[in-house]
Amino acid sequence: MNIVIFGPPGAGKGTQSKFIVERFNMYQLSTGEFLRKEMSKNTSIGKKISSVINSGSLVSDKIVSDLIEKIISDKQYQNRIIFDGYPRNLNQAKNLDNLLQRYKQKIHIVLKLSVSLETIKKRISERRSLEKRIDDVEEIAIKRYKTYEKSTEPVIEYYKKLNLLKVIDGENTINQINKEISDIISLI
Ligand code: AP5
Ligand code: MG
Repeated sequence: MNIVIFGPPGAGKGTQSKFIVERFNMYQLSTGEFLRKEMSKNTSIGKKISSVINSGSLVSDKIVSDLIEKIISDKQYQNRIIFDGYPRNLNQAKNLDNLLQRYKQKIHIVLKLSVSLETIKKRISERRSLEKRIDDVEEIAIKRYKTYEKSTEPVIEYYKKLNLLKVIDGENTINQINKEISDIISLI
């Protein structure tokens, strides 16, 4: 089974993915985490990524596509991937379908965590004191949210039409959401 976990910045994608990994023996493919790792290496590509992430925009589709293909094509992750932060625009959604088809896989469900901008601001400001993420400054977080609204939200319609979308109230507690997701996955 492959899952897409979808939602605005700070919605809880990473938090819930970690729980799914443990409970269902899956693999979390967080494009954001991969990019942050690359950034920390301070290579020329890392520097380029850093300036994009710092602006709250999206890194190029090509860079991220190469990254996810490495995982999708690897037999050890076959049919046990949670896509956390991919796709983020329609082009990426179509690319994901093509890649999965090439490696004889598919998406089983898309979980969308719905949260308000107020909640996002609060969660990101709380995380700022725990983790050191350059893009957690309020100003950049708002830009990330705008990028989400403009480029990423349209992808929801795409998955709705494919009958894959499950909307989850991301305002609930972490445990309540865990339970809801767990029930959904157990039925697949
Ligand atoms: P990415 O790392 O994916 O960041 P994001 O989408 O902005 O989301 P976050 O990681 O901030 O939030 P989350 O939903 O994982 O929430 P979390 O669980 O941490 O991407 C970063 C950047 O990389 C992008 O801006 C872009 O530039 C680039 N990028 C990444 N993917 C790309 C792609 N495909 N294409 C192009 N560019 C790409 O939770 C947040 C906080 O809230 C935590 O402190 C948590 O403890 C808390 N929390 C979680 N759930 C709850 C709850 N239910 N109740 C209370 N608190 C909660
Ligand atoms: Mg995350």
